[in-house]
Amino acid sequence: EKGGYQHFMIKEIYEQPKALKETISPRVNNKNEIVLDDIKLTKEDLEKINKVVIVACGTAYHAGLVGRYAIEKFAKIPVETDVASEFRYRDPFVDDRTLFIAVSQSGETADTLAALREAKEKGARVLAVTNVVGSRISREADDVFYTWAGPEIAVASTKAYTTQLVAMYLIALDMGLKKGTITKGKYDAVLNELKTFPEKAEKLLQDKQLLQELADKQFNNQNVFYIGRGIDDHVGREGSLKLKEISYIHSEAIAAGELKHGTIALIEEGTLVVALATQDHLYDKMLSNIKEVKARGAYVVAVAKEGNTEIEKSADIAIYIPNTLDELTPVLSVIPLQILAYYIAVARGCDVDKPKNLAKSVTVE
Ligand code: M6R
Repeated sequence: EKGGYQHFMIKEIYEQPKALKETISPRVNNKNEIVLDDIKLTKEDLEKINKVVIVACGTAYHAGLVGRYAIEKFAKIPVETDVASEFRYRDPFVDDRTLFIAVSQSGETADTLAALREAKEKGARVLAVTNVVGSRISREADDVFYTWAGPEIAVASTKAYTTQLVAMYLIALDMGLKKGTITKGKYDAVLNELKTFPEKAEKLLQDKQLLQELADKQFNNQNVFYIGRGIDDHVGREGSLKLKEISYIHSEAIAAGELKHGTIALIEEGTLVVALATQDHLYDKMLSNIKEVKARGAYVVAVAKEGNTEIEKSADIAIYIPNTLDELTPVLSVIPLQILAYYIAVARGCDVDKPKNLAKSVTVE
């Protein structure tokens, strides 16, 4: 059932090209129009909406952070992203002009479901992004986007995350085009690029040796830090969660600009720092952050777009993702982080698919 792989997690990491293809292809017709069958939001509905609230837990929350970026960028609607267990208890401002998006692989997470009910009660229109047809969250939502990732068995979410990202991009692009906040030229460019992702992910997955060697050297760390800016920071959070949940190494992700405000105090000789630097407009700033942690003895693994080799002068190791639009990098940049977390956990002899204390789906609060 693991198809020759040692664990479900690595099998599912390698299923990402297929999962991406199956999530994207049925949604784009031959006229390059996005077809979201289970979403009935019309242009008029969208005009009424003045706020989007994205709520989720764990990995799905991290997809929601990228969703905020995509919707604000393409559809120009203000977006808040919150963890479900916080959202429900803060008497959030939601009304009938709010579009509430619940993101949940399983569609059964208790806090996400409770948040959805609360938003519905306050009059919001509810859209669910989920991987499970017929799940509770899908049944209670007004609109649904199914991520066709296929069953995800490993507790650590991988292919669900990358397909959730794609869902967020497709929803944002569709809204943007309907609202006229994105030009057709830009829409086509982003959508065409998204269509190349199954292939680009495939290419990225062929190169795991460097990451495996890195894991074999770095598996004994006590602390790991992930730094990035903008959407790279969101991906860093996902990379950090992946590592801590399966390897039991303490890890933390912070916005690189926040380093100086506290966390840099923890960087010492040999501390592993994973630095994401995929964004052109933030690249120089990231190079400075890398130099700062290097000066304190950190061992830096940088993730950058291919061609941006200047980073090799500051980082100890550079991992490259295929060239793509800056807006879309998370779908690709998370893949090396998943692989690194996996091989570190394997090197530590951990039960990768069933980490201690964790359940695949958290159906109690
Ligand atoms: O099924 P859901 O997407 O609602 O699950 C949310 C989280 O429990 C889940 O993403 C969790 O954080 C994973 N173990 C992360 O790998």
